[in-house]
Amino acid sequence: MKFFVDTAEVSEIRALAELGMVDGVTTNPSLIAKSGRNMAEVIAEICTVTPGHVSAEVTATDYEGMLAEGRFLRGIAENVCVKVPLTEAGLRVCRTLTDEGTPVNVTLCFSPVQALLAAKAGATYISPFVGRLDDLAQDGMQLIADIVQIYGNYPNLTTQVLVASIRHPLHMAQAAKLGADVATLPPAVIRQLIKHPLTDRGLEAFLADWKKTGQSIL
Ligand code: E4P
Repeated sequence: MKFFVDTAEVSEIRALAELGMVDGVTTNPSLIAKSGRNMAEVIAEICTVTPGHVSAEVTATDYEGMLAEGRFLRGIAENVCVKVPLTEAGLRVCRTLTDEGTPVNVTLCFSPVQALLAAKAGATYISPFVGRLDDLAQDGMQLIADIVQIYGNYPNLTTQVLVASIRHPLHMAQAAKLGADVATLPPAVIRQLIKHPLTDRGLEAFLADWKKTGQSIL
């Protein structure tokens, strides 16, 4: 399973890359706004931190505008993956960019049939948003299960399921159990995955006992 980091904060990406937990990065217009930086500059910098796909999202909503933005974003670096929303124009742009050899991440997916359309449009990734469905008292993980099942029925569909809008470690565990290809996580959630109170307590006890021996390994 690939781990993508869902942020435009370069220092966070760098730190997690050192931990070996960054197979790629996802950004969106809200994350770029939060970074306070110029989009092209920050995407270019992120692309030097990881060789994996870095999703950069278009903001035009018509076919021509999205296509022009997508081509510009792809020109920033070889590992840019163009992110387009799941709209009619977005699906059309997905097909055009895919045919040009550009990887495309189709975002804002909230139904299994939307995911089927993205796969038919040749998307490299489909991004179903689990947290935002949970927020509406709908089962976000059921959407992942449905997409994994549908894609599994048609082995010619090569689109990877990229679980997005992950809010906590349970989402991650469920996504992995369902066999999702990728999860994109906020840095804080990646750190939460590491932590367990019994790990901390166990380490504390081991170190206290070790101190009593008066030994040192080196
Ligand atoms: C994914 O590509 C999106 O940027 C992200 O996961 C959205 O998460 P949110 O619902 O927490 O904003």
